[in-house]
Amino acid sequence: MSQSNPILHPRKGIHNLEKYEETYEQFKWDSVHPHFSWFKTDKVNMAYECIDRHVEDGYGEKEALVYINGTTKESLTFSELKRRTDEWAHLLKSQGVKKGDRVFTFLPKNQEGYIAILAVIKVGAIVGPLFEAFMEDAIYDRMYDCEASVLLTNAELLERVPVDKLPELHSIYITDDLDHPIAQSIPRLLKETSFEGEAVQWVGLNDGMIIHYTSGSTGKPKGVLHAHRVMIQQFQTGKWVLDLREDDVYWCTAHPGWVTGSSYGIFAPWLNRTTVVVHGGRFKADEWFQAIEDTGVTVWYSAPTAFRLLMNDTDKIKNFNLSSLRHILSVGEPLNPEVITWGLDAFNIRIHDTWWMTETGAQLIVNLPTAAIKPGSMGRALPGITAGIIDLEGNEVKRGEFGLLAIKKGWPSMMKEIWKNEEKYQSYFINDWYVSGDLARMDEEGYVFFQGRNDDMINSSGERIGPFEVESKLIEHPAVVEAGVIGKPDPLRGEIVKAFIVLTDAYTESEELLKDIQTFVRFKLAAHAMPREIEVLEELPKTPISGKILRRILKAQEIEKLEQGDRYHVPL
Ligand code: WTA
Repeated sequence: MSQSNPILHPRKGIHNLEKYEETYEQFKWDSVHPHFSWFKTDKVNMAYECIDRHVEDGYGEKEALVYINGTTKESLTFSELKRRTDEWAHLLKSQGVKKGDRVFTFLPKNQEGYIAILAVIKVGAIVGPLFEAFMEDAIYDRMYDCEASVLLTNAELLERVPVDKLPELHSIYITDDLDHPIAQSIPRLLKETSFEGEAVQWVGLNDGMIIHYTSGSTGKPKGVLHAHRVMIQQFQTGKWVLDLREDDVYWCTAHPGWVTGSSYGIFAPWLNRTTVVVHGGRFKADEWFQAIEDTGVTVWYSAPTAFRLLMNDTDKIKNFNLSSLRHILSVGEPLNPEVITWGLDAFNIRIHDTWWMTETGAQLIVNLPTAAIKPGSMGRALPGITAGIIDLEGNEVKRGEFGLLAIKKGWPSMMKEIWKNEEKYQSYFINDWYVSGDLARMDEEGYVFFQGRNDDMINSSGERIGPFEVESKLIEHPAVVEAGVIGKPDPLRGEIVKAFIVLTDAYTESEELLKDIQTFVRFKLAAHAMPREIEVLEELPKTPISGKILRRILKAQEIEKLEQGDRYHVPL
């Protein structure tokens, strides 16, 4: 977060947004509307704008999706993507799926995972994409809350879905060509489906389209619902911030179960008619570099933890030809200046930090390719966005002072609602400010510097983890009476999940027991929510009257311990 880092100026070249200050003064979101076909036809559908219109405009033979996984490389053109999403949409319609139904997808990062999401949107239903690594409880919390009636998955992942506990779920479809006791096979059904008539269901800009569950500091994950209108901002940020152009090959490394993987892994690039790379499989430095070389990625959107992991394998870079890269972006957690310096050394390209949230639907504060970067800053508010640093009353603080990072209401991609939770939705706002929950300061030139969260939300490797969810799971373990969960600062992952637990009398602490508790969370909830550290305490700090666990004290103690460690660390 140092201000003494040198300012990094942009390289020369033509970019989609050349004059930030001038554009900021004049820009109105309405000016983007004529880009969309609904501006003339009044017929709205995100999937149509992402795929069908490009085919109608004569770009059917352009590559839309390039799937790469190890030695497998397959691609789909926009025509093929249209045909396949049309077919799936017809299938869903013939099975009775209607506008507004909640249809969840639980699929790997492969062609079908993307086709499924777009097909659900095409029929006007609300899609709920689930992250591939979710286990039973994480799936249950989301599908139950959302009253999902349909699930698109595969036979292997279906084993993790607690079907018996989901009363609203009446239809399950799998991508495998096989008989299944509780699910129907999509490839088999497609053989019987009539593809007559229009596949697209027209909707309104404010109709619900996608729901992402996201964690805060309290309670279960909340369903953030976005409407089709997000396309206005996703298209425009794809142009300005991702700087997408006709010949780009674009790779966003996030799974579409997270908002980055949908807003910027699907919608922003395809609204801009860009070729999208989908990389299957897990993170491995060699495979990632290979994927860039094999597909010729030009624009790459990833996250600080991934960059930090790649930094550990810097020596491998020389084995690959990565010269296609021209623009790199980052999101999800603070981008430390060391990573920017590494990017400059490794690729001779600046890494452009961007800030936004599940609730905001699209980028809001960014480093543009044409602007100076102040390492440690997330950048400036986009044209069309008013960012402020406010106090608890909604008054802006003095420039340079820390406060709550807030955005003036009214940007096109703002969430439509929190699913069935109006009170939670309202709690985001102070007057006409949307309050992010992040703490930050803004300098005289409008550059925003991130400080941390104003609540107990944990951000590990860019993934939001709610301490309450992890605590609830921990106390289901027979050995655990009480649990307090915090994010412990970590040089690689930003934060790691750390749990403090009190054991029941029947158990004594052992390495084996702690492993068992970790595994319990991992296989019941999700791997990324598993506490990487567990500490057994005699008792947890609590508020005197209500007896609530004071996570802040646990965190303060932990940070103090880390600092003490630093102080007494003797360099070798
Ligand atoms: C954090 C991800 C620092 C922040 C798109 C925010 C960041 C939360 C940055 C949203 C950044 C996101 N620098 N922190 N550039 N971007 N965050 O909903 O705390 O998964 O509130 O959205 O991630 O996480 P979410």
